[in-house]
Amino acid sequence: QEAHAAQMERTFIAIKPDGVQRGLISEIVSRFERKGFKLVGIKIIVPPKDFAQKHYHDLKDRPFFNGLCNFLSSGPVLAMVWEGEGVIRYGRKLIGSTDPQNSEPGSIRADLAVVVGRNIIHGSDGLETAKDEIKLWFKPEELVNYTSNAEKWIY
Ligand code: TYD
Repeated sequence: QEAHAAQMERTFIAIKPDGVQRGLISEIVSRFERKGFKLVGIKIIVPPKDFAQKHYHDLKDRPFFNGLCNFLSSGPVLAMVWEGEGVIRYGRKLIGSTDPQNSEPGSIRADLAVVVGRNIIHGSDGLETAKDEIKLWFKPEELVNYTSNAEKWIY
């Protein structure tokens, strides 16, 4: 349905340097893809420290902020934008809780990570953050509008 497409939500998902180094890109991308979400932007970059600080600006007063920003800028990050109905909220479900020890089995962090400081993936936590993070990480022309063949069977 065309009406559907206009309402489709987008979220920012990033595989952090630990996930990239551990060879978990295809495993993680595959979980979003099989669910039925659509990849509309993807690139691999080493984010500079000041960029990491911008990304995590909400956490600037937390004791782990500096270590977190150093970590995010320590190697390649796979930055992505995924689109689909409820993708912001359900993306967080696929990811699991911040601390992998508290994550539901079956979630990415539960299945693939052990400690909070190396939890391999980031996902926007709401509509406003999703908009801000997509804008921070991607230029508009880096995002692709298309209809996948699967869509008419998913919706
Ligand atoms: P936060 O935005 O609270 O979690 P999430 O990634 O689930 O949205 O925190 C951002 C990242 O900061 C988190 O993924 C891992 C790191 N972090 C720590 O290293 N120690 C902590 O105690 C917390 C809360 C987060």
